[in-house]
Amino acid sequence: MLLGKRLRRTRSRVTLLESVYPLLVPTPEPGTHSLQSRKQDPMTDTTLAPASAEASVRPTVREIGIIMNGVSGRMGYRQHLVRSILAIREQGGIELPDGTKVTVKPLLVGRSEAKLAELAAKHGIEDYTTDLDAALADPRWEIYADFLVTKARASALRKAIAAGKTIYTEKPTAETVDEALELAKLAQEAGVKTGVVHDKLYLPGLQKLKRLIDSGFFGRILSVRGEFGYWVFEGDWQPAQRPSWNYRAEDGGGIIVDMFPHWNYVLENLFGEVKTVYAQAAVHIADRWDENGEHYTATAEDAAYGIFELEGDIVAQINSSWTVRVNRDELVEFHVDGTHGSAVVGLFGAKIQHRNATPKPVWNPDLADDHDYDADWAEVPTNDVFQNGFRQQWEEFLVSYALGTEYEFDLLSGARGVLLAEAGLQSSREGRKVELPTLSLD
Ligand SMILES: NC(=O)c1ccc[n+]([C@@H]2O[C@H](COP(=O)([O-])OP(=O)(O)OC[C@H]3O[C@@H](n4cnc5c(N)ncnc54)[C@H](O)[C@@H]3O)[C@@H](O)[C@H]2O)c1
Repeated sequence: MLLGKRLRRTRSRVTLLESVYPLLVPTPEPGTHSLQSRKQDPMTDTTLAPASAEASVRPTVREIGIIMNGVSGRMGYRQHLVRSILAIREQGGIELPDGTKVTVKPLLVGRSEAKLAELAAKHGIEDYTTDLDAALADPRWEIYADFLVTKARASALRKAIAAGKTIYTEKPTAETVDEALELAKLAQEAGVKTGVVHDKLYLPGLQKLKRLIDSGFFGRILSVRGEFGYWVFEGDWQPAQRPSWNYRAEDGGGIIVDMFPHWNYVLENLFGEVKTVYAQAAVHIADRWDENGEHYTATAEDAAYGIFELEGDIVAQINSSWTVRVNRDELVEFHVDGTHGSAVVGLFGAKIQHRNATPKPVWNPDLADDHDYDADWAEVPTNDVFQNGFRQQWEEFLVSYALGTEYEFDLLSGARGVLLAEAGLQSSREGRKVELPTLSLD
């Protein structure tokens, strides 16, 4: 199993490296039909009949129908619909290695018909429904994509798997590891392909970090220190910038369930498998006000202070907080120290300090230190063109789906993220370090 995990990580490195060089961002070709102007209903295969010799060299375009559930939410709308699916559709699809293309057609799904109608009209989308069961029963829609609140996810995924749909979902994939693993097993038994959002791996800063690691820059990596967070307003004198369910445990909230799944795939894909976790959760602010200005008592932690032991004797320490005022360059930063060099990376930026450029401070509390420590760091240049990470992953997933290749960031990977969250909560409850078991589908 351990070997299996190592193999998986090796493959994912390839995936990440490929993502540094986007598969392509093609401009629509004259022969490629716009989805909106299409009159026929060619859901699964829209190979266009050549009308002339010139047309016969046109690439064929396969249109993939995607059920987008929870599309009116923050992530569903901005990152998945607008920045990813509509952007892919507008660019004319994604080119496959054989020169053919795949493009996408969204079916908007939600609970409010009025909201869906408004979104559909705003973006020129033909299809929307409040009837998920009917959407799942319709073979025109091949992929089920889920951006619901965490609490509603597992039951919807179960239905979609039973309907034989390919799955693409936000994290966390479930609220408990038992449920997350059950979903991964159900998908395996049903033979459906699955993908889980691993967006942080696609951040430009983390891609630069990946390149530093692969180049051997660090020597032996010793430790990783991550700082994530910002101040989320309480909601009384300024509206909160996150949904109120995030602060209610009974509604699937809490920063551990939200962020530890991210930390798991970041740590395991960049540094090594997580072996143990010690976490201290805190509800720093108990009084909050919801979207309607109503007071509620927060029942889920708004900060978590975690220490993670990784394979290779690497110690990672990550603070996650919605109750911290930012005094760093970016909303997330990772500081990595190795025997030969160190790096500090954020969402976009990355700076490094080599062992040969390392100053030699001497501790002396009696003397003000006028050394400019910031000046000891060199900026890593942006040598690549980075596109939105959610879209980049969607493109990789769609290509993998169209080609029928193995996809690394699947429901089992998602379940490992849920495992870390569950172990983190257990650690905080019990005040002790918790070892992580190896998850398997067997
Ligand atoms: N990848 C990331 O960086 C990232 C960031 C934030 C949130 N997320 C995840 O995305 C998911 C959505 O988060 P969000 O911030 O967009 O939340 P949101 O509250 O803005 O949107 C949630 C969506 O779910 C729908 N919904 C709410 N309750 C429902 C119910 N009982 N049944 C069916 N639908 C329901 C809402 O109508 C809305 O469309 C969460 O699982 C969250 O953990 C991921």
